[in-house]
Amino acid sequence: LPRGGVAIADYLVVGAGAAGLATALCLGKRGSVILMSKGSPRASASYRAQGGIAYPLPEELNEHAEDTRRTGSALVDEEVLRTYLSRAGDAFAFLEDLGVPFERHPDGSLVRVREGGYTHARIARTADHIGRSLTTAMIHALAHAPSVRILPYARLLRILVHEGNAVGGIFSRRGTPFVVLARMTFLATGGFAGLFARSTHAAHALGEGTFLAWEAGAVLRDLEFVQFHPTALARGRLPLPLLTEALRGSGARIVDAAGVPLLERIHPLGDLAPRDVVARTLYEEGMRGRSAFLDLRPVANLRQRFPTVWRILRRAGFDPERPVPVTPAAHYTIGGILASAEGRTTLPRLFALGEAASTGFHGANRLASNSLLEIFVQSLLACEDATRTEAPLPNEVAAHHARKALDRVPRGLPDVPKSALLRRVRELLWRRAGIVRDGTELRAALDELSRLRQRLVARASPEAVPFLPDAAVLGTATLFVRSALAREESRGVHARRDFPGMEVRPRHTLLLPPKRPDSR
Ligand code: SIN
Repeated sequence: LPRGGVAIADYLVVGAGAAGLATALCLGKRGSVILMSKGSPRASASYRAQGGIAYPLPEELNEHAEDTRRTGSALVDEEVLRTYLSRAGDAFAFLEDLGVPFERHPDGSLVRVREGGYTHARIARTADHIGRSLTTAMIHALAHAPSVRILPYARLLRILVHEGNAVGGIFSRRGTPFVVLARMTFLATGGFAGLFARSTHAAHALGEGTFLAWEAGAVLRDLEFVQFHPTALARGRLPLPLLTEALRGSGARIVDAAGVPLLERIHPLGDLAPRDVVARTLYEEGMRGRSAFLDLRPVANLRQRFPTVWRILRRAGFDPERPVPVTPAAHYTIGGILASAEGRTTLPRLFALGEAASTGFHGANRLASNSLLEIFVQSLLACEDATRTEAPLPNEVAAHHARKALDRVPRGLPDVPKSALLRRVRELLWRRAGIVRDGTELRAALDELSRLRQRLVARASPEAVPFLPDAAVLGTATLFVRSALAREESRGVHARRDFPGMEVRPRHTLLLPPKRPDSR
């Protein structure tokens, strides 16, 4: 921990998923970086990504743009789309330079597969563990980056703002709080898919960064757009292992207990219909008592081509030679902290990257594997943008305010939310704000969240409440449900039973931050 409780660097990066690692690597070439993470980089959502990264070749950009646009349901930001696709080659070159072993055919051309919503195969892969390949390559590269200091197992408690600028954050590690000050702060804190009872993400994807950014003064956008992956392995405990969509891209079918295909009559793309269609179909069939299974037998060389899936199934006691039970599960947060293509938020000197950000690239529904593409292009752009911009190191006055803020943080705070609270919130969001929503259920969810908050306030000391992990979890959950209630239509991944139609004019859901004194 920093001596005197305050550390200082040119750049502060929060989060060690793919976006945090890539940004830290790039920024580390231009200045000093402190990379904070609440867990190990091997516990990130990125690490568990299976399918691959969208990599359209120059002659395929129009088709990829069209697939992204169609899936995104009229909310894709055209400028961001154009910018990201035009830099796809740079992102790919960055990964190849790091030594990511993309699969190639004997003639040297890239192996690329197809997933839901794609008209053609455009996803580059490293067997079925792209996340592990990317993360490992970046961790190795960071070991040779002397200007990047990594401080794992520390939780972000507050983003510090001085004279209208983000100047760093207060963190806590095993109950000891400390401050990191920086010219610029980059939030790569991920999404909040871990707040649902069925989720492909573990305890880490709880969205505290999103809530803290809003508290500090950043605008949030479209939080209601949470994507549910159709085929998580239906087993008892979290996280539910993903069974990558690339399996269906390679022939796997979704069937019922009698072996009857479930998607054939639902969508022209059948098993490869966009994710929201497949997830909703499985959810609704499940409500009628018809369970879903993934039949992997049509996939050639399953064990060689999908070793991760094979291992997951074996470890969980399933036979890959027979259809395995699947369920939709929360997988990706499309909305988040409103950010430009470069990651700039509405709070000066605060950037939001990757799943934490809402850039408009995904619109109302993300095309599979586009998020990894976004991460690497956006990190590159953020790094270029930040290092081009003059920003002073926080001055003595800012440091003085930071120390005063630090003095107000109680010692001995817990590092993680209470498991009983997390269980309640997960059950509540899955049941009342999950795949298909309606106003009555969403209002009931808000009431229940407010009762949980009252109970927290009644039990904890008033100085501790704003810094408790439970408060951040309830804060994120509440902002999400408010957004879901505000969108009175069904669009992309947001389905309302009481508003089944789509409004003619697409619009965003904005959450303005609370008013705060300037220096905290
Ligand atoms: C998958 O492999 O099915 C997940 C890919 C993604 O979420 O983009």
